[in-house]
Amino acid sequence: MTTFQEIFKPMQLGAYKVGHRIIMAPLTRCRADKNHNPTDLMTEYYSQRTSAALIVSEATMVMKNCSAFGGTDPGIYSQEQILGWKKITDAVHAKGGKIFMQLWHGGRACHPLLNNGHECVSASAIAIEGDTHTPQGKVPYTVPRALELKEIPQIIEGFKIASKNAKNAGFDGVEVHGANGYLLDQFLRDSSNKRTDSYGGTIANRAKLLLEVTKSVIDVWGADKVGVRLSPLNSFNSMKDSNPLELTAYVCRELSNLNIAYLHMMRADFLGLQNGDVMSVARESFKGILIGNMGFTPSEANTAIQKGLIDAVAFGHHYVSNPDLVERIKNGTTIVEPDQSTYYSQGAAGYTDYPLRNSK
Ligand SMILES: Cc1cc2nc3c(=O)[nH]c(=O)nc-3n(C[C@H](O)[C@H](O)[C@H](O)COP(=O)(O)O)c2cc1C
Repeated sequence: MTTFQEIFKPMQLGAYKVGHRIIMAPLTRCRADKNHNPTDLMTEYYSQRTSAALIVSEATMVMKNCSAFGGTDPGIYSQEQILGWKKITDAVHAKGGKIFMQLWHGGRACHPLLNNGHECVSASAIAIEGDTHTPQGKVPYTVPRALELKEIPQIIEGFKIASKNAKNAGFDGVEVHGANGYLLDQFLRDSSNKRTDSYGGTIANRAKLLLEVTKSVIDVWGADKVGVRLSPLNSFNSMKDSNPLELTAYVCRELSNLNIAYLHMMRADFLGLQNGDVMSVARESFKGILIGNMGFTPSEANTAIQKGLIDAVAFGHHYVSNPDLVERIKNGTTIVEPDQSTYYSQGAAGYTDYPLRNSK
């Protein structure tokens, strides 16, 4: 029997009863084609990981011309993409898995060289510091154009259409990507949002776009098939907020009122610059299922679930290299470390060739 009994207790995750509490975190792997269509290799990759209680797909572009990852990040705005994803969801379902799509707009992380020359947009005209990767090599991020007030309904509508497309592609639900310094997070945090209209200034104003997008997605799916991901402390993509805990409390309370299936909270900072206990704030302010992520070990997650600090855990980098992570945790066998050099490379190496050793 496993030593991690709490992790292996069934739970109700929105509309779905799941047999345990191990979630596969969203992982961008850049194995789509140049038209942002899902590939057969992606079908194989996701179908290897179906023992997760829930797979959250890699960040997926809700509309055209918002690529932020070398031009081979997938989209969900064309018929071809819907059909490509349908193969993936069919393969996942055939093996008894569940999969939500992570709905994503990169905002100022997008680059004209990746997007047919289209300028990137954001809350305000403030660039990410440093360089991004393009087919022409590393280039500085560009200064985004601040979205005009009259353009914001188009963004909300873009998420709504993408949600409908995800439904047609056979997903079990969707996760709104409000984390990691992409468009919705760029509105949330005050280092990137200097707007003086109704989408800037107060926390309530900055949270408005995320909440409006979430509501529009709920219109399509129902609240019990919608999750939201946040990373209030993550500095990645030049992000910071002057009061991350208050921001977290407000957003969590509002999301709680929407009765979403889950809140997916990244508790730390990729760069280790910002600290704070966002998990406790989330637990207090959000009444539904709370998924904790970032740096958890199975043992820590088991204890956190036992203490009621979180309800479930999402693993990121270990899902790169352990397609059978659930079985490994259950059997107490070795968890393999990933080869970071193949995170965003092409082909099967470091993608579908990690061995399934413990699939009994
Ligand atoms: C290769 C790679 C790709 C990632 N892609 C995404 C993504 O598409 N969307 C997202 O929200 N987070 C993404 N993340 C963050 C992970 O979901 C997760 O939050 C992070 O790895 C921390 O969890 P861990 O400590 O269990 O690895 C990515 C992380 C890695 C390593």
